Amino acid sequence: MEKMSKEELLKMLNHALELEHAAYIQYLSHAELIEGENAEPIIERLKEIANDEKNHQDKFRSLIGMLGGIPSMSIAETHPARTIREILEQNLKDEKEAVDTYRKIYEMIVKERGKGYYDMILEHEVRHIIMDEQEHITELELLLGKSGESY
Ligand SMILES: [Fe+2]
Ligand SMILES: [Fe+2]
Repeated sequence: MEKMSKEELLKMLNHALELEHAAYIQYLSHAELIEGENAEPIIERLKEIANDEKNHQDKFRSLIGMLGGIPSMSIAETHPARTIREILEQNLKDEKEAVDTYRKIYEMIVKERGKGYYDMILEHEVRHIIMDEQEHITELELLLGKSGESY
């Protein structure tokens, strides 16, 4: 891979890592705010999603290390929300932003395919993370009662 595009890719992967840091914290924080009769399953689900985001952090960190970069310790912007609906809507919006961002990374990896020796690992891992985020979108839409809206 050309030096320029590797640096560009590392920048994008570090931005992705920062989004994952923010998502993890945001889901756990929001989970603490939810209360009421039907709260338990939603809290459980938000904590499960938070755990997926933590795994994504690990994956992005090792991809960055593999490319010789330094994993970011910064956190992207987090978004407050208060009611169950606000929390679900906010995280749905952020999941969609993550998919759009990771799709750009994926497209760059595909464009650079065959130029380095890590292309298949990068493609596989980023694709897998995007699929997880798409599942999160499905989950949040189900909880919001609007299934399949984002198809
Ligand atoms: Fe994630
Ligand atoms: Fe997610």
